[in-house]
Amino acid sequence: MAKKSIDLRVKIGGICFDTPIIPASGVFGYGDELIDTIDYRFLGAIVTKTLTWNETHGNVPPRIWELENGIINRIGLQNIGVKRFCKEKLSKLAETGKPVIVSVGGEKLDDIAKSIEFLDNQQSITGFELNLSCPNIKTNQIIAEDLDSIYKAVKKIRKLTDKTLIAKLSPNVTDICEIGIAAEKAGADILCAGNTFKGVYYDWQLERFYTGGVSGSMIFPMACKNVFELYKKVSIPIIGLGGINSEKKAIEMVFAGASIVGLGTHLVIMPDLPAKIYRFFIEYLKQSKKSKISSIVGIKNEKE
Ligand SMILES: Cc1cc2nc3c(=O)[nH]c(=O)nc-3n(C[C@H](O)[C@H](O)[C@H](O)COP(=O)(O)O)c2cc1C
Repeated sequence: MAKKSIDLRVKIGGICFDTPIIPASGVFGYGDELIDTIDYRFLGAIVTKTLTWNETHGNVPPRIWELENGIINRIGLQNIGVKRFCKEKLSKLAETGKPVIVSVGGEKLDDIAKSIEFLDNQQSITGFELNLSCPNIKTNQIIAEDLDSIYKAVKKIRKLTDKTLIAKLSPNVTDICEIGIAAEKAGADILCAGNTFKGVYYDWQLERFYTGGVSGSMIFPMACKNVFELYKKVSIPIIGLGGINSEKKAIEMVFAGASIVGLGTHLVIMPDLPAKIYRFFIEYLKQSKKSKISSIVGIKNEKE
């Protein structure tokens, strides 16, 4: 699809992304729900909602509120579980011809490991994204917020699969770099920075606060800073996501150090955003007389 001399493909580990634009986990259902709405040609891969070993219903509503420049959600890890996913969803995803990245999470590391072992046998799954950073679960122990825990978790999962492994990081930490370095050392192929920012919402009708994860344009500066800082310190590629709502914000993420950009909240609001970003990237490379997207990754940043 790329114009002859310009190449937007990105090859990382076992995954060949046709474009450097992917959906963020969770806003896209299992990857099949928006098949009629989004032009998949502009996506580099499909990323599913986070799956857990057992089917779960998530939190009791209310679970999502609109903010001025974003949303706050406390959905929890609502999903049909890995077994039903394989039976009911996977073949349809494989038909798209896109690499299928399955997001896996859970409250216990043993359950995450069980899910990975089960899913690893599925040929049509290309890679896993480890969601160790969901802020909307009951446990207080979020793996991606503790150095030791993330290292042990990634190390354990790495032993269970040869498929490409993405560690999705939490932005709710003091130093995202030390967490990213730990995930890299433990064997992650790619870092995804990152998940939602913790926030609270006051519901005036119910007269109480709810905690949730904030996403959308308001988090872009912080999300981009995390990519900017990580790029200096790690050697593995980074998926930059959080608040991307335009072509310019997407390319800024690339300038900061993202090899791939992820679209969450604004993908649902603007289903044509991947196409717009794709065309903008092509045009930018053409104007800069460059032929590969990799040549502009981190160009406004420096490795330490
Ligand atoms: C409604 C909703 C559901 C989400 N579900 C998941 C999920 O299942 N797994 C996950 O790793 N992240 C989940 N996220 C977080 C997104 O993948 C993404 O990290 C976050 O929204 C920041 O990106 P954005 O500002 O572009 O939306 C969810 C976000 C939203 C808004």
